[in-house]
Amino acid sequence: MRMRIDILTLFPAMFRGPFDESIVKRAVESGVVAIHIHDLRQWAKGRHKVADDYPYGGGPGMVLKPEPVFEATDAILEEAAERGPIVLLTPLGRTLDHDLALELASKQRLILICGHYEGVDARVHEHLATHEVSIGDYVLSGGELPAMVLVDAVIRHLPGALGSPDSAGDESFVDGLLEAPPYTRPPEFRGWDVPDVLLSGHHAEVDKWRRRRNLLWTAQRRPDLLAAASLTDEDREWLAANALPLEGSGQ
Ligand code: 6GU
Repeated sequence: MRMRIDILTLFPAMFRGPFDESIVKRAVESGVVAIHIHDLRQWAKGRHKVADDYPYGGGPGMVLKPEPVFEATDAILEEAAERGPIVLLTPLGRTLDHDLALELASKQRLILICGHYEGVDARVHEHLATHEVSIGDYVLSGGELPAMVLVDAVIRHLPGALGSPDSAGDESFVDGLLEAPPYTRPPEFRGWDVPDVLLSGHHAEVDKWRRRRNLLWTAQRRPDLLAAASLTDEDREWLAANALPLEGSGQ
């Protein structure tokens, strides 16, 4: 079943480059997802199509008005029968992570609302959005880049979006571990060798070595992830034997 994503933005042109390349482009072309970009200004009122206004009570900056956002959403909902989350991209939202990307990838339809200016009228937050999503604790000038990030993170979980069937299942954050970087040719580069096991052709040994490297890199770079990771007894023993921290688990 093809997923439908509608994006509401004051800057539709921003999406052209990123969505015309790579995995997003391939997913659209192969019919895994349909992406519709809508210009919010289309629903703004008056000759000048004004979509923003001053904040009540004073203060700096402009606020995205509620009418264009609600009316655009109503109109877009009528374009297709499927229902799904209405996601407002805002630094006030839940931080996007692997689990949220997976959850959103299970929906038939997403509507993404890109906030801009200093903020979006509170009624959009309270009475329209079903989800509020941020991409991290820093402020960007709008929700467009976050929407692109979300679309990329979601689409790669859709069946058929990536080249090989299990590429999405094999990468960082599955099992809650980082995936250590791979090696490619040449086998020796500036005196640094590719580990022998990778040249050995022993698949079981390669798998075991990779798992340990993932544990090692996670312990060294993101020890906070290890506490919540799905670890086997063998993983735990190997970490302990190599004096690597298993933060938060009391070991
Ligand atoms: Cl979703 N919007 C804005 N404006 N800034 C952000 C963000 C979103 N996520 C992180 N920073």
